[in-house]
Amino acid sequence: MEFNKIDEFVLKEYGINLSAYKSKQLLRRIESFMLRNGASNEIDFIKILKADKTISKKFLDHLTINVSEFFRNKEMFLELEKKIKEILKPEINTLKIWSAACSYGAEPYTLAMIMDRLTPNKRHNILATDIDRTILDMAMKGIYNKNDVKNVEENLLKKYFEIQDGTYAIKKEIKDRVTFKRHDLILDKYETGFDLIVCRNVVIYFTQETKNEIYKKFYQAMKPGALLFVGATESIYNYRELGFEKASTFIYRKPGGN
Ligand SMILES: C[S@@+](CC[C@H](N)C(=O)[O-])C[C@H]1O[C@@H](n2cnc3c(N)ncnc32)[C@H](O)[C@@H]1O
Repeated sequence: MEFNKIDEFVLKEYGINLSAYKSKQLLRRIESFMLRNGASNEIDFIKILKADKTISKKFLDHLTINVSEFFRNKEMFLELEKKIKEILKPEINTLKIWSAACSYGAEPYTLAMIMDRLTPNKRHNILATDIDRTILDMAMKGIYNKNDVKNVEENLLKKYFEIQDGTYAIKKEIKDRVTFKRHDLILDKYETGFDLIVCRNVVIYFTQETKNEIYKKFYQAMKPGALLFVGATESIYNYRELGFEKASTFIYRKPGGN
């Protein structure tokens, strides 16, 4: 089954190019959402989406899959911390870091905490982007639940969160270290000069061709010696071809720099 009309609608309405996403997985997601919302074909479904903003918003959430958490795959973040130490040099004042597809902010705030632990007296430049504006609003609010913070060490919880009635609000001193912007990894231009790019649990939804395009653009966006940290199921099998070297499991380096 194909959903060409839905693809057109989604591109026009939300600016998301679904043709770059893995088709089988995506078709299943669209189909299940359509049926759950009482539409048996594309035309009826588009009518529903046009008429009901709440369903339309839910559909966007369903497509973009915003699941995240602080220190997701904790041991990998500990490994990342070690690798960041290697690129932190006394003569380098600040690092330029990008959390690409940051969802509701748990990832860039995790990075801000790590950087504060490593260099308490420095402020680094942390950019956090996502395609979904609603999720970015949530990220900027920075309010989390117990499950989101389950991997956060007790001392970090106390230091960086205001804890009240089961909610965990990120403190201003960490919040202020992250700049959130809307950015589409497929359609938008990339900034350059990054020392670290963290892009996790999003390319799994993309076709191999799209993944390659994204990794090439990351390479261009990175300084020599910079690191790229990917998700636990996102090993880049063709990393050599793309010009990277392996720094660790799930961490790649652009050669050069010292
Ligand atoms: C599963 S979350 C990953 C969040 C975080 N990186 C992590 O690993 O916990 C995937 C995120 O990718 C975003 N996303 C999907 N397509 C995107 C695109 N083309 N450009 C940028 N972000 C995208 C979604 O909105 C969602 O917030």
